[in-house]
Amino acid sequence: MQLKLFTVPSILRFFARSSLIRLPSIFITGTDTGVGKTVITALLALLYQEAGVKVGLEKPVITGVKAGEDAALAGDLALLRRVLSTGEGPVYSYAFTPAVSPHLAAALAGISIDPARIEADHARLSSRCDAVLVEGAGGLLVPLNDNCLMADLAARLKLPLLIVSRPSIGTINHTLLTVSCAQARGLEVVGVVINNYPARPGPVEADNPGAIEKFAGVPVLAIVPHITSLSVEEAEEGDIQKVAQAVDKKFKLLERLSRWREEHVQ
Ligand SMILES: Nc1ncnc2c1ncn2[C@@H]1O[C@H](COP(=O)(O)OP(=O)(O)OP(=O)(O)O)[C@@H](O)[C@H]1O
Ligand SMILES: [Mg+2]
Repeated sequence: MQLKLFTVPSILRFFARSSLIRLPSIFITGTDTGVGKTVITALLALLYQEAGVKVGLEKPVITGVKAGEDAALAGDLALLRRVLSTGEGPVYSYAFTPAVSPHLAAALAGISIDPARIEADHARLSSRCDAVLVEGAGGLLVPLNDNCLMADLAARLKLPLLIVSRPSIGTINHTLLTVSCAQARGLEVVGVVINNYPARPGPVEADNPGAIEKFAGVPVLAIVPHITSLSVEEAEEGDIQKVAQAVDKKFKLLERLSRWREEHVQ
C-alpha cells in the first residue's frame, strides 16, 4: 500500500535530484548597497533547493531592524526566510536598528562586531547544510569594525565571491574596482551577476556585460531581469521562482556553478 506514495514521476525526480549536483558555498557581495544582493541570494537559494541541495542562508549583520521588531523576520531576512523550504530561518549574528554601515551601527550600540562570532555561526550552519550562501552588507570594503572589512570577513569564512552589479552606466568601473579589490586580497571570484536588467536595453546596457567580462577577466554568470511584483522590503517573492528557472535555463547557471565547484573545491 505504501508504494502508492511513490509515483513514477516522484521516483524519477528523486533520482534526478539525488544525482547530487554539488554546488559551492558563496559570499554574495555587490558593487554597492541596493544592487540586489538579497534578490540574487534568494534566486540562487531557490535554484539550489530545486536541484536537491540543502542550502543555508546567512546575513551576518542586519541593520534597519525597527524597535520591537523580531530581528529574525526583519529586513533582508524576511524574504530570505520565505524562499527557504527547510523551515530553518536564515542565520544572522548581529542585528541593529540604524540602517547604516555595520561598523557605525555597532558603535552606536556601544559594541564592536566580533568576526569570530560570525565565523562560529557560519561553521555551525555549514555543518548542517550542503552549501551556504552568505549575503554581505553593502559592498566589499564596508567596515565591520576598526580592523575588519567585508572582504576580510569573506576571507575568514574562506568563501569565493559572487559580485552583483547594476546593468547601467557606471557599472563597468564599479565592477572592475570590486573584482580588482577582491583579487588583490587573494579572494576568488566565481563571477558577476548583472541584476535588474531592462527589458529594452540601450546601447550602454547592451555593451556592459561583454565589457565587464573582457576587462575584468571574470565571467558574467547570468543577467537577471526586473522581477514583477518582487519586493525585498515587503518580503514579496513575486515572480522570482519563475525568473530563477528561466535564468538558469538561459545561462546554465547551476551547471556553471557546479563546474566551478568541481574545479576549485576539493
Ligand atoms: N531583479 C529585480 N527585480 C525587481 N526588483 C528588484 C530586483 N533586484 C532588486 N530589486 C529591488 O531593489 C531593491 C534593492 O534590492 P536588494 O534589497 O536585493 O539589494 P541589496 O544589495 O541586498 O541591498 P542591501 O545592501 O540593503 O542589502 C529592493 O527594493 C528590491 O526589491
Ligand atoms: Mg540585502
